[in-house]
Amino acid sequence: MADITVTEHLLLHQKRTPQATGQFTGLLYDLILSGKSISRRINKAGLLDILGGTGEVNVQGENVQKMDAIANRIMLYRMERCGALCAMSSEEEAELVRVSPEFPRGDYILVFDPLDGSTNIDVNINVGTIFSILRRPEGHTGEVTLEEVLQPGCRQVAAGYILYGPSTMLVLSTGQGVHGFTLDPGVGEFLLSHPNMRIPEQGHIYSVNEGNWKNWDEPTRDVLQWFHNCETPDGTSYSSRYVGALVADFHRTLIYGGIYLYPPDRKKPQGKLRLMCEANPLAFLAEQAGGKASDGAGRILEKQPDRLHARTPLFIGSAKDVEAVERIYARCAQA
Ligand code: F6P
Ligand code: MN
Repeated sequence: MADITVTEHLLLHQKRTPQATGQFTGLLYDLILSGKSISRRINKAGLLDILGGTGEVNVQGENVQKMDAIANRIMLYRMERCGALCAMSSEEEAELVRVSPEFPRGDYILVFDPLDGSTNIDVNINVGTIFSILRRPEGHTGEVTLEEVLQPGCRQVAAGYILYGPSTMLVLSTGQGVHGFTLDPGVGEFLLSHPNMRIPEQGHIYSVNEGNWKNWDEPTRDVLQWFHNCETPDGTSYSSRYVGALVADFHRTLIYGGIYLYPPDRKKPQGKLRLMCEANPLAFLAEQAGGKASDGAGRILEKQPDRLHARTPLFIGSAKDVEAVERIYARCAQA
């Protein structure tokens, strides 16, 4: 098979989608370029004194790693200049970042987590950049307001991630299925390696930080006990896997099936993960691949964010596994 580059793939989709403009393709192109720059820095992190923390604590109350700050700067710098955006929201920035008037502005809004799972970087384990692309609501001009940005995930026009692992991979959906591309470092291009990714209907892996057990309520413990005891269609038990980088745990779930869970707990009653820059983009990919994403009671993509850094519980992966979680919570709520 001839290699298809991500640029060729995007241009093909642009031709097939009448509403797609060159502006949108340009946005993705610059996003991919930012991902390549971050990938290069990460590959050399151990050699460049860019491991470890900056000593600062971010808006989320987490220690900022040097690579978090570098990835954030790369994204903000390049994307502000891409000409397709009017605003950005980063996990590392407390406020909305409006594109400066000195640059051309477009109709899109980019929400991103510059380096998910960054505490893994010191031990040379996968991290990734997660992104969500929204369109400014029709008819709005002038300075972008926060209300325009606070859209439910079902309004995303594209979402994806770049996973910096043994290979660097881009996993992307523009609403026409999910496609995976692997970076060929020699050529410097992402090549289509995983066309039309689909999540198996039921998996054999559950992925959760079980160290939180003592802080979980009874319904959540019931959910976990379900996965301890249930069987796959071929009669084997579920296995447990937890990288501790959402993007990596999700990537495995997308390919093998199963479920990733970050339930609410006593210390984090709203859950830990960010709705707009983590849960929404991955929920979009999960649904596009035939899977599901829920907060335990309903669809992630229908949740109305009340602020940029709103948090949510997250149950994501194979449709049957996510449905089992919703069933258990619903049964407990009735009891
Ligand atoms: O961004 C939040 C995050 O680092 C995710 O990547 C990861 O899945 C999760 O937190 C890990 O949280 P914990 O350390 O509580 O298991
Ligand atoms: Mn993250």
